[in-house]
Amino acid sequence: MRHPRTRRDSRGVFLTLEGPEGSGKSTQMLHLGTVLRKAGYSVLHTREPGGTKMAEAIRETMLSAASKEPVVPETEALLVLAARSQHVAHLIRPALARGSIVLCDRFADSTFAYQGFGRGLSLSWLQHANRTATGGLTPHLTVLLDVPVSIGLARRRRARGQQNRLDRESTSFHQRVRQGFLTLASRTPRRIKVVNANRPVEVVRAEIEGLVLGWLRTRERRAGAR
Ligand code: TMP
Repeated sequence: MRHPRTRRDSRGVFLTLEGPEGSGKSTQMLHLGTVLRKAGYSVLHTREPGGTKMAEAIRETMLSAASKEPVVPETEALLVLAARSQHVAHLIRPALARGSIVLCDRFADSTFAYQGFGRGLSLSWLQHANRTATGGLTPHLTVLLDVPVSIGLARRRRARGQQNRLDRESTSFHQRVRQGFLTLASRTPRRIKVVNANRPVEVVRAEIEGLVLGWLRTRERRAGAR
């Protein structure tokens, strides 16, 4: 199966949540999924790396902290891209074609932030390889949960048992990742909306909810006016 070369599927909506470690993304995703379902939308909640059986196996290989074999940056990039290719073809595109909202915990912006800004791999190579892996599929809207590195890492350390191989990287690596996300947001402000996640969880939750529901209503009004 080859990827069709379309940027977006016209029926469904592709929403992603991004952020550095400990930004509270996964909790906020669960809540947003519930809110959207209550509002009557059909929602597919998924994550990267992962989403299909093979992609989840790649996630396990990529994030396992057990192996002593150092992982080369290029290997890391190719693993996340291989997982994405499976995920887009078998889960994301079919759900978009059915008209669902696909709510995805991380996507290509994480590759640019972690493997590009964090590991120092070429952004243009990553963009090219990502286009090959996805057929050019890009989220309609991305919410970037921003949190200072020291606070995010402390949150992750408190959530014992959840630490993966990348959590153990140096603080400077995580600083580059955070700045990378903010740089991506400043380059694509129409798609990537930055939310300050260094606030109480209910405050962040309300802001995300307002932002996403507002964006969906505007999109529906525009579609109705056509
Ligand atoms: P998390 O979703 O629980 O935060 O774990 C996913 C980890 O995988 C996180 O450390 C970021 C990393 N990752 C990359 O390095 N590149 C990618 O493209 C993606 C999707 C995730």
